[in-house]
Amino acid sequence: MSKSFYITTAIDYVNGQPHLGHAYEKVITDVIARAHRALGEDTFYLTGLDEHGQKVQQAAEAEGKSPQAYCDELAISWKAFAESLDLSNNDFIRTTESRHKRFVRAILSKLHAEGHFYRATYKGFYSLKEETFLTEKDRRPDGTFDPAWGEVVELSEDNYYFRLGAHQNWLIKHIEENPDFVQPDYRRNEVLGFLRSEPLQDLCITRPTKRLNWGIPLPFDEEFVTYVWFDALSNYVTVPASLGDPAVLSVLARWAGEPTADSATQTQACCLWPADIHVIGKDIIKFHAVYWPIMLKAAGLPLPKQVLVHGWWQKDGQKMSKSTGNVVDPVAVIRDWGVDAFRFYVVRELDIGPDGNWTDAGFVARYHAELANGLGNLVNRSLSMLKRYRQGKVPPVSSELAPETEAISKRVIDNLRAHRLQAALIAIWDLVARANQYVDHTAPFKLAKDPAQSRRLDEVLYNLAEICRVLAVLLGPFLPSTAAKMFRQLGLKESPDKLAACAWGGLAEGHLIGQPEPLFPRRD
Ligand code: MSP
Repeated sequence: MSKSFYITTAIDYVNGQPHLGHAYEKVITDVIARAHRALGEDTFYLTGLDEHGQKVQQAAEAEGKSPQAYCDELAISWKAFAESLDLSNNDFIRTTESRHKRFVRAILSKLHAEGHFYRATYKGFYSLKEETFLTEKDRRPDGTFDPAWGEVVELSEDNYYFRLGAHQNWLIKHIEENPDFVQPDYRRNEVLGFLRSEPLQDLCITRPTKRLNWGIPLPFDEEFVTYVWFDALSNYVTVPASLGDPAVLSVLARWAGEPTADSATQTQACCLWPADIHVIGKDIIKFHAVYWPIMLKAAGLPLPKQVLVHGWWQKDGQKMSKSTGNVVDPVAVIRDWGVDAFRFYVVRELDIGPDGNWTDAGFVARYHAELANGLGNLVNRSLSMLKRYRQGKVPPVSSELAPETEAISKRVIDNLRAHRLQAALIAIWDLVARANQYVDHTAPFKLAKDPAQSRRLDEVLYNLAEICRVLAVLLGPFLPSTAAKMFRQLGLKESPDKLAACAWGGLAEGHLIGQPEPLFPRRD
């Protein structure tokens, strides 16, 4: 079986509130996944939840619940959140699932057996809030720590450490030789800068059970649980392993010494690993571009092909923060404006890479200009005129706008292949604008009044209806339910889920279209 295109998002902290940043990451990943499917590739999209760690344990205690019961409740709303975004994810991983615990213990056993870990005593400062040890470098001149670290305590404790030093050089070389490994380039340079500037510190990979028990116990020392990041990163391989992926099991079988897959019952194994793209935000780049490849290499597993790093959203030029009320609630926006309006805005507004800024006025402006007056108006007037002047029956094929449409389709597809989503949307709207201009220039409402212009009217109506069909095909990965509505209004039974269908001439002469209805009603 050939390898599927495998794409993941970061897994969200279960105790956080789903917000714009999470929604954006999931939507851009979804657009890429749908585009690959529409290009005919087997595609697997994974998202999920990060459920272990001190904060979850403390939050559960504060609510008088067991951590598992607490996570189970929150997981329901996170899954509903994913659904509200119209994601096409193939699985949803929770790090408290048995398949995950089993995989983490297996990878830890192998790394331990091969001498990658050692136990040592650490004395120093620890941020409870960030669950991380601090060094002298983190101290301010007056000896205090930045309040961002929350409560800082002095600790002396034993832990296990992962030796990273030996990995620094090959990782630098790997990133230098594989420019796609971290994208965009300025993020790649950031990682290289960091790796070249200082020796890698060994990574603490445990917490003692006496301090934190909401985690996965080490298979070789039950007095410790796995550090949340080690646990969380592993999720990306848990799912392939649980589906019987031979690329993982050929390595895993040797060290787990037992059948690993929940896939015993599965007839055909998935071939997913290595991941093609891990989509993440800029704050967690070091974990994905430094620690994760080292963990994989040490375990003998192939490295992911790309870490694709997006920027952070602000609202009205300021950091979003629940305490100040400066937040965008994606669920409320979707309830008011529809999921496709939300998906459109975030992808059109913010390219993958830089930081973005949400303003309600910007959202409403794009809704009216691009969705209601641009796309919506084009589809509505094109199909309404076909209904009115030709009883909804498609005239003979005319190729007047075929060359321009095909050139734009190619631009869209090239951009989709390169994961330049914003550029692809801009190209699609060039076609919307061209078609609206064509209506204004050809004035079909005038042609309809002159029987001598009947052939010309046929041509214009064909070109407009066919452009609406092509637009639905191109929009499929971005606005799946709008694209489906457009196909229904065009009287087409199939789904707009194959980009090859953008070839000109798909609407046959005599085909009867359906009922035109506004796609994006104006809200003045
Ligand atoms: N649990 C870790 C990730 C583990 S991945 C093995 C985590 N979770 S998180 O809930 O804090 O963040 C999840 C994702 O959302 C991250 O990629 C993060 O960058 C992204 N975002 C969080 N806030 C964001 C914005 N304001 N804007 C855009 N993305 C943001 O980190």
